[in-house]
Amino acid sequence: MVVYSPHKVILFGEHAVVYGYPALSATVDLFAKVYLIPSRSGLQYTPFVQRTLSYLGLSNVYVKVETNVPSGSGLGTSSMIITGIIMSERDYTKEKLAREAFNIEYETQGLGSPIDTSTITAGGFVLTNGKEGVPLWKIEKNGMSWSFSSIPTRNVEMVVVYSGSKGSTREQVAKVRKFYERGSLAKDIMKRIGNITEEGVRAVTKGDLAKIGELMNENHSELKVFGISTDQIEKIVSIGREFGYGAKLTGAGGGGAVIIIPKDKEKLLKKLKELDVMLFDTSTTSAGIFKRSE
Ligand code: PMV
Repeated sequence: MVVYSPHKVILFGEHAVVYGYPALSATVDLFAKVYLIPSRSGLQYTPFVQRTLSYLGLSNVYVKVETNVPSGSGLGTSSMIITGIIMSERDYTKEKLAREAFNIEYETQGLGSPIDTSTITAGGFVLTNGKEGVPLWKIEKNGMSWSFSSIPTRNVEMVVVYSGSKGSTREQVAKVRKFYERGSLAKDIMKRIGNITEEGVRAVTKGDLAKIGELMNENHSELKVFGISTDQIEKIVSIGREFGYGAKLTGAGGGGAVIIIPKDKEKLLKKLKELDVMLFDTSTTSAGIFKRSE
């Protein structure tokens, strides 16, 4: 049995979602294959794989993950692996899968929101803490609550660019939290990001690429204030703004990936290739995680 686990992007609202503000995410047409292979003991696992295997009562298995996307790129790799391992062993409902995968991620990381695990599980455009869409489920943790809904709409072409350095979600979330606890500046930024997300949902529903791009640019500028962008991200974003409808970092930042809505795709790809970065010319997809016998 092989599990196909999709990478995810956050179009609007990362970091703000940790504090309960709305965010819009989507799965992209880049899937990792996750297999569990019986193996001898003594394998070294990363903490989140170890915790997932203990949750399932498994030992002596080798977790094989095939993807071209580097880990730490803000495209959901750890959530995809946790969710993928559980799905290969259990026939849970999507809601139960999203909930259990988030619990494991949270226990390992000690912070964050269920946006990644829920998006990967549901597939398509997923709205967290918004009013629109088809309701999916609600997840609560430590007095926080996140509700999820599905936004059925056309897929959007997207160029995903890896900045070449990994970002640590834990470090970046902790960095933003310091700002958040210090005063009202961060809270005002979060509120503005929340409003951008709400406008973004309308733009995505209409398929208005120019508006989606404009809002991504605004969201990126707000995130920059937290010091989570890098020089390389800025270079990629400025090319994205010139040859696309808009661009922003996606995920926790501090490295990781940039998403661009292409306009003049040929020129965009040419300019990005001059920067010698790893890129994925892809689009959002309506598919969430699934399994199939090979
Ligand atoms: O783990 P990443 O890089 O995909 O970031 C997830 C989005 C954050 O809002 C930064 C953290 C979270 O758990 O919501």
